[in-house]
Amino acid sequence: MSIIKVEDIAYVRFGAPDLARMRAFLLDFGLIDAEQSTDSILRMRGSGSSPFIHVTELGETGFRGVALRASSVSDLEKLAAAESARVEPLDAPGGGHMVRLIDPNGFVVDVIAGQSPADKKAGDDNTLWNFATQRPRQSAAKRVRPGAADVVRLGHLVCLVNDLPATWSWWQERFALLISHEVRAPDGNQAALFIRCDRGDLPADHHTLNFASVPGKSAQFHHAAFEVADVDSLMVGHDHLQAKGYEHNWGVGRHILGSQVFDYWLDPFGNRVEHWTDGDIFTSATPPEITDLDTMLGHQWGPPAPASFV
Ligand SMILES: [Fe+2]
Repeated sequence: MSIIKVEDIAYVRFGAPDLARMRAFLLDFGLIDAEQSTDSILRMRGSGSSPFIHVTELGETGFRGVALRASSVSDLEKLAAAESARVEPLDAPGGGHMVRLIDPNGFVVDVIAGQSPADKKAGDDNTLWNFATQRPRQSAAKRVRPGAADVVRLGHLVCLVNDLPATWSWWQERFALLISHEVRAPDGNQAALFIRCDRGDLPADHHTLNFASVPGKSAQFHHAAFEVADVDSLMVGHDHLQAKGYEHNWGVGRHILGSQVFDYWLDPFGNRVEHWTDGDIFTSATPPEITDLDTMLGHQWGPPAPASFV
């Protein structure tokens, strides 16, 4: 029995010595300014209803932590009581409260609730797609706005850990998470877990978290992934980042596990960030599946993963 359930990922936090440089990249990546950025904290949002989804704190370069959204402040109180932690005000756009925990890998995990949603920014019109067998866009031309992608929301976080069973126990015991895919190594050991939130009858992303096993190595961030409006948005975003000279990492392609169309980039401080669209969603009724490493790192189309990704 888990302490609480969580609904989704809320934000990721990084450190960087130059917030202006990070902001310039994130604007080109498709994020927009959130309210309340200061000289020492940069907060950026997507076009969806989250007040912010990406935080950069002035300082040493690196991954600083992740936040998950719980359904109520009373759940935060329950969690805080079980963890001998405390519920603190979330001093950020949208307000709310948070409990800060540290997982067995040393990852800082903020669990937040009571945040007020931000106004959604209007997306582009004419987003209907015509397929050969179904042509809903009639008497209207498709015109794709060039420039940065329309990043709507944060979708998932992937980290490398050295004790995957201990990591899974810690997260599942607290947040009632579900496994979508368990990836096994040739020796039969767990190599990675694709983890989604239990929203009951509401469908949730195929994975909100992914932990991959790197025994003997130090736990580390692998990538944070942001959902964009659609494939056109992903492709114009790709052209835009390429024209600006940023470092591309992998894509464009379509994953097998989760099915997303994906495109990976590195921010100016070396953090890997992903644009994705058209991912699988499942209710809590779908059971876990077991699969292998080739399937995890394979793709349905697009180029193979470079060595730098693996
Ligand atoms: Fe991803």
